[in-house]
Parts: sequence; C-alpha cells; structure tokens
Amino acid sequence: MSFDKPIGRIAVVGTGVIGASWAAHFLARGFDVVATDPAPNAETNLRTYVDEAWGALTALGLSPGADRQRLAFTTSMKDALAKADFVQENGPERPDFKIQLYADMDAATPADSLIASSSSTLTMSVIQSKCARPERCLIGHPFNPPHLIPLVEVVGGVKTSPAAVQQALAFYASIGKKPILLHKEMPGHVSNRLQTALYREVLYLVDQVVLSVADADDAVSWGPGLRWGLVGPSLQFHIGGGAGGIQHFIDQLVEPMAALFGQLGNPIITPELKRKLSEGVLAEAGNRSVKQLAQDENEKLVQLLRLRGQRGPGTGRGKERLSAAGAS
Ligand SMILES: NC(=O)c1ccc[n+]([C@@H]2O[C@H](COP(=O)([O-])OP(=O)(O)OC[C@H]3O[C@@H](n4cnc5c(N)ncnc54)[C@H](O)[C@@H]3O)[C@@H](O)[C@H]2O)c1
Repeated sequence: MSFDKPIGRIAVVGTGVIGASWAAHFLARGFDVVATDPAPNAETNLRTYVDEAWGALTALGLSPGADRQRLAFTTSMKDALAKADFVQENGPERPDFKIQLYADMDAATPADSLIASSSSTLTMSVIQSKCARPERCLIGHPFNPPHLIPLVEVVGGVKTSPAAVQQALAFYASIGKKPILLHKEMPGHVSNRLQTALYREVLYLVDQVVLSVADADDAVSWGPGLRWGLVGPSLQFHIGGGAGGIQHFIDQLVEPMAALFGQLGNPIITPELKRKLSEGVLAEAGNRSVKQLAQDENEKLVQLLRLRGQRGPGTGRGKERLSAAGAS
C-alpha cells in the first residue's frame, strides 16, 4: 500500500495540552482540521487555545488558506476520522487505552491514511498490536507546544510500513516541522532521553550541594543552552574545535570528556531532593506565575524561530530526505 495521496483534511484525536497545539499548527498551515475529544468543554477549551496561539502563529507566518474557521469539532471519533487523510492522536498515555483506541481509530480511518501518535513513552509496536491495518500507524512525537517547537520524532513499530514512515517524514517537513527519523524504537524516543541525561546530572549536582537550582538553570540556559538553541552538540564541537574542527575535538577532547563519564551522578530521588527542587524553582520563579513565564518564553521562542528562518509553510526538506533515503 502506498501512502502518498495528497493530505488536505486532518483529524486531531484528543485535544488536551498537545492535541490543541497540534490543531493550531495544522490550521496555521492551511488545512481543514476536525478534532474530537469526549471531555466536557473540550471544544470551548480547544477554540480558546487556538485563539491564544494564533498571534504567535501569525508572527511566524500563516500559510495560504490558514483560517481558524476551518476547525470543526465533533464528539464522534468515527465522524472525525471518516474522511481524514492524516490523523494525529493525542489521547491519554496509558498502554491499554491506546491499544484499544488504535484498534477503533484503525477501523474508522480510510485504509490509505496515516495515523500518527504523539505518545512520549509508548512504542508503536505495542500501540498497533490490535490494529487490522497496523502498517499505516507510527509515532510522530512532538515537543510541547507543537505549534512552536519544530521537532517531531518519527518511528514505526514492527508492523509499520517503511513507506508510511517516509511519507510521514515528508508530510511533517512540508508543514514546517523538523522531523527526525529514529531507526529503532527506544523507550522515551530520543530527545526525552537527552533531556533526562542532562537532568539526571542537574539533580545530582543539586543533591550534592554543588550549586543551587537557579544556578544549575543558569549553567545551562546562559551557557551551552544558548548555543544549543542554534546548533546541536556535535556540530557545536566542530565549531569549538577551531580550524581543526571535529577532528581536533576527536583527537584532543573526546577522551578527556569520556574520562568524566564514570564520575557523573546517579542521584536517588529522596523526599529531601524533591523538596530542594521545588523550593529552588519557586524561589527562582519569584512572583512570576507559570502563565507569565510561559508567555515570556513563547514570545522569545517566536523571535528565535524567526531568527533561525523557521517559519511559514515549510522548507521542502521532506523531498530531499525522501530522495536521500532512496524513496520515490
Ligand atoms: N504534555 C506533554 O508535554 C507531551 C509532549 C509530547 C507528547 N505528549 C503525548 O501527547 C499525548 C497527550 O498528552 P497531553 O499532555 O496532551 O494529555 P492531556 O491529558 O492534556 O490530553 C489528553 C486528552 O485526551 C482526551 N481523551 C480521552 N479519551 C479520549 C478518547 N477516547 N478519544 C479522544 N480523546 C480522548 C482527554 O479528554 C484529554 O483532553 C500523550 O500520548 C503524551 O504522551 C505529551
């Protein structure tokens, strides 16, 4: 089965934190979006979220035809999926729930349409296990909020067709996302593992009273984190290697760095460490509410994305990736 039909109509299943943001992104890229969620007030909450996100999406550049009026809502998942070309699922993160949900979605969605899950922790091999047509089911894991953070981690399960994976990569790239392909399923996919690796050491250093929570945040966000907002760590070491580039890093620096591996921490999450973390973060936040912090962060993210040229309907990198991968 090929999955290369044009995508015009998108279904968003589950419109909580992640689903609402995906819906806003798809609308801003000029699609018809039909959303479904059984929660009371789900439609009102979704429309409010989209309205609040629209300013940032407009600043980033709307695609032709982008219109909030193109959002439809139904509590009937069957109706939502009946004509969907692409489904982005964002339901509760429970394995039994997702397995049944996928069996139901699979039965209700046209056979040549893709079904992508935002799941952060489950593998598609598990989620698709009761589907009659599991070959079109894959993970398309975003970062919160998907309408601002471009990354999507794409990985199939044992029964996913490679053509479906390639088509999902191309589709996400065509709508301004930065999809990356994982060649193997991993618990936590990749970027959450990277975050966890760094955060393990933050917790260790705080636990060992090496520094405060706020100073650990500064050590990341005013240090290497500034660069990581522009360039990933490996390319950064190429730049840091000066004229010798990455080879200088490999010859001179990688082994001293590796010598530290054994000294990195593995903190035990005690009630005391939890208390330190909570008190440290609240002191750092001061009188700024979570909402204010999020607004401020999102405004700066929009500026950074614009600076990096990440805006509008996409870059066409999906096509490059497809030909690089040998797909037609
Ligand atoms: N929150 C994050 O930072 C984050 C980041 C990336 C991925 N994810 C993933 O996104 C998914 C959703 O997470 P969330 O944080 O948005 O959760 P959430 O609890 O905010 O939203 C889940 C939504 O699913 C709805 N729902 C329940 N049963 C449903 C059904 N039968 N059909 C359709 N919708 C149904 C709920 O009413 C709720 O609105 C999870 O798989 C999670 O792992 C979350």
